[in-house]
Amino acid sequence: MITLEVPGFGSSVKLERSANAASFPQFRGRLSGSSIDLIDSVADVRTAEHYALQWGASIGFQNFARDNPDAMAYTPSRQLGWSELFERIRERARTVPTRIYDAACGCGLIMDELFRDPVPEQLLYVGADIHGSLGEISVPRNAQPEQIFFLRWDISNPIPVIEPFDFVICRSSIHHTREPAHTFGSLVRAVAPTGRLAITAYAKKCRLRELNDDAIRNEFSKLSNEEALKAAGEFMVLGKALQAVSERLKVERDLEWLGIRAGEYGIQDFIYDHMIKCWFNPMFGEKLSSIVNFDWYHPTYAYRFDTVTLRNWFAAAGFAVERIISTKAQHYLEGVRI
Ligand SMILES: C[S@@+](CC[C@H](N)C(=O)[O-])C[C@H]1O[C@@H](n2cnc3c(N)ncnc32)[C@H](O)[C@@H]1O
Repeated sequence: MITLEVPGFGSSVKLERSANAASFPQFRGRLSGSSIDLIDSVADVRTAEHYALQWGASIGFQNFARDNPDAMAYTPSRQLGWSELFERIRERARTVPTRIYDAACGCGLIMDELFRDPVPEQLLYVGADIHGSLGEISVPRNAQPEQIFFLRWDISNPIPVIEPFDFVICRSSIHHTREPAHTFGSLVRAVAPTGRLAITAYAKKCRLRELNDDAIRNEFSKLSNEEALKAAGEFMVLGKALQAVSERLKVERDLEWLGIRAGEYGIQDFIYDHMIKCWFNPMFGEKLSSIVNFDWYHPTYAYRFDTVTLRNWFAAAGFAVERIISTKAQHYLEGVRI
């Protein structure tokens, strides 16, 4: 067993290690600071490589998000229940030791929100992800190094941390794993007896957009990072051109089969919501707008859900769902173990 002691804490992050069984991970080394590599071989190399580029220093997404909260407000992650949950976690962790597992932590955007000043002194954060750029995440200035750990780990598998977590969260990621329901089961195993589990997952879109997305992704996901990033730039250019069209489109009645509601639409909004994702936001600029399209079409798996399926996962695992919030992009569900 590797024990990472956290001074001043009632508990510590204790990792199970190899010993006998194949199911336990090997300690592969440190990525940097408290970023530890526990992956022997990556099951989905394409997704890991995709996100190693997307979250790596050459793109600089973490810095962009830190410096541009107004731009980030346009992303689905900032429009669901997360900010309110993070405030509750921060409030609790001011006085009570609080352990959080951020499954598929990306480039540390959630860590940044949780450890905003004033840093909650009793918060212990473990982030896990499969990409190889975890060592490049910069830890908030005022957080103690003992409060933050990153594990390179496939979240489809139960995290090899012995003590359970008060909060297990998985934002915009479960749909990128090969079998999301199985991944959900692994997340459930990490939740403490009265702990909470919150996820967001992609929402099902209308018929045309779903069909197009599947067909595009089928080809797009096979491209190399470089090819896909270049092609994602074309989606950005298209989105920008469509935004420049000032005419509006009027649909006279609900088109049930197509999934299009009666109403007036801006041209880019209409194409985006019903046909293809072609994201452009001037606050993100051309490079990062292309990254948003790259993020949608390039990862190997990108399942979409309705709330019934997600609610059933929680119920079957013995969780009472206390919050459901949906936008057209994603569903947020938060449950407590009963
Ligand atoms: C859209 S990003 C979301 C990142 C972060 N949760 C956030 O909200 O900022 C999806 C993340 O899922 C991670 N991911 C995909 N499949 C994974 C797996 N099987 N195990 C661990 N992480 C995975 C990717 O590497 C990527 O960082």
